[in-house]
Amino acid sequence: MSERLLGEVAIVTGGADGIGAAIAQEFCLQGAKVCIADRNEALGMQVASQLVAQGFDATFFAVDISDETLVNAMVAHTVAELGEPSILINNAALISPGNDIDAVGVDAWKKSFSVNVDGMWFCSKAVYPYMKKHQRGSIVNVGSVHSFKIVPGYFPYAVTKHAVIGLTRNMAVEFAQFNIRVNALCPGMIETPMAFKSWDNTDDPQGSRKAMGDVHPLKRNGTTAEIAKPALFLASDDSSFMTGQSLVVDGGRSVIYHD
Ligand SMILES: NC(=O)c1ccc[n+]([C@@H]2O[C@H](COP(=O)([O-])OP(=O)(O)OC[C@H]3O[C@@H](n4cnc5c(N)ncnc54)[C@H](O)[C@@H]3O)[C@@H](O)[C@H]2O)c1
Repeated sequence: MSERLLGEVAIVTGGADGIGAAIAQEFCLQGAKVCIADRNEALGMQVASQLVAQGFDATFFAVDISDETLVNAMVAHTVAELGEPSILINNAALISPGNDIDAVGVDAWKKSFSVNVDGMWFCSKAVYPYMKKHQRGSIVNVGSVHSFKIVPGYFPYAVTKHAVIGLTRNMAVEFAQFNIRVNALCPGMIETPMAFKSWDNTDDPQGSRKAMGDVHPLKRNGTTAEIAKPALFLASDDSSFMTGQSLVVDGGRSVIYHD
């Protein structure tokens, strides 16, 4: 099959690790030029260097997406190094499991929203003028199964992930007039370094990993590559008549009945 993203310039926030790094790799393989935008400078530089060493057009910019000034600088860097962005993958997020509603302070609430929601909005606002100018673009907002259901102990992460769906729908409706599509991609449990770290902190890491996998009807957790492919579908013209939607990729987790 031909490269699906030839000539596209993509920004992947949180592209230094986990799902974002897999998306950056897949998009490069599909012919896109990719800017990895991440607050982790060491890892981001490493991932971008590896892509360049493979012959791809990639760059890195150190950014905390909750800082609008830095986000604007990141997009300016992308334009200077790679060209005007036609794809934005809003993937970076602060993941904070294990929080009960009465144990969360206002600072933690604000921090979570500033990255998971404000950051997504800042990045979208910053690429919008370029997409509007070219009358085309695709924005993919990474939500979660937590965008639709509540698992006790994930406050306020789940609230921010619900907000991602609202932001996706609102931007989709307002940007559609300029042929800019906005969709949400909502993974179930994906085996990222972060997931392995949390299992490693239990008495039985392999047992914890298997128990999590068993929650899914497919009886396993997903891989980052299994999110990169749906991200490619949403970013590319393969989904050209799709906007404002949420694509759930969760091994069937969200449709099974638990009591
Ligand atoms: N892993 C899962 O099981 C899972 C499930 C559902 C949804 N998600 C979502 O997928 C996305 C990626 O998750 P992951 O598991 O790959 O996470 P991860 O922790 O492995 O990677 C997240 C990346 O985002 C970067 N980042 C965090 N805050 C940032 C900020 N303020 N500015 C810039 N970069 C920042 C980190 O440095 C890191 O490189 C997130 O939106 C997450 O909510 C993950």
